[in-house]
Amino acid sequence: MPEPAVLFVCLGNICRSPLAEAAFRAEAARAGLKAQADSAGTANYHIGEPPDPRAIRTAARFGIDISGYRGRQVQRADFERFSHILAADHTNLANLERIAPAGHGARLSLLLDLVPDCAGQAVADPWYGDEEGFLVTWNEVSAAARALVTELQE
Ligand code: 4NP
Repeated sequence: MPEPAVLFVCLGNICRSPLAEAAFRAEAARAGLKAQADSAGTANYHIGEPPDPRAIRTAARFGIDISGYRGRQVQRADFERFSHILAADHTNLANLERIAPAGHGARLSLLLDLVPDCAGQAVADPWYGDEEGFLVTWNEVSAAARALVTELQE
């Protein structure tokens, strides 16, 4: 099987999807799973910017440095580069489906579809809330990352 390549997608690529990418990289490394990972936003608001400082601090609480990540926008070519494209919420999933090239090979779903009992749910946007909201985000994306690593190992 070719090496899995996973793209995590949210709106701005500075809060949820960088945390999801970081959680997945950590879980894959722990499990000895070889996989490519990246993240992107459906919007163009934060291209070239580092993650939100609250996201950087939250990852750091778990020993992970995401300060070097930089925001980018999803491109149509991503649907050929990645085997899995995982959206944080329904709006971003709908926007991905809208721009997806016909016949693309990526598996497109909500990120929390991977987690038993959370299928169909969104990872809430922590951008407007306080820093504790980022911990909720971290816990959600970590559960999805663990489930994805388990699935990819099977
Ligand atoms: P994210 O959060 O989609 O999880 O990165 C947001 C970041 C920025 C904005 C909205 C959501 N914004 O409106 O700039």
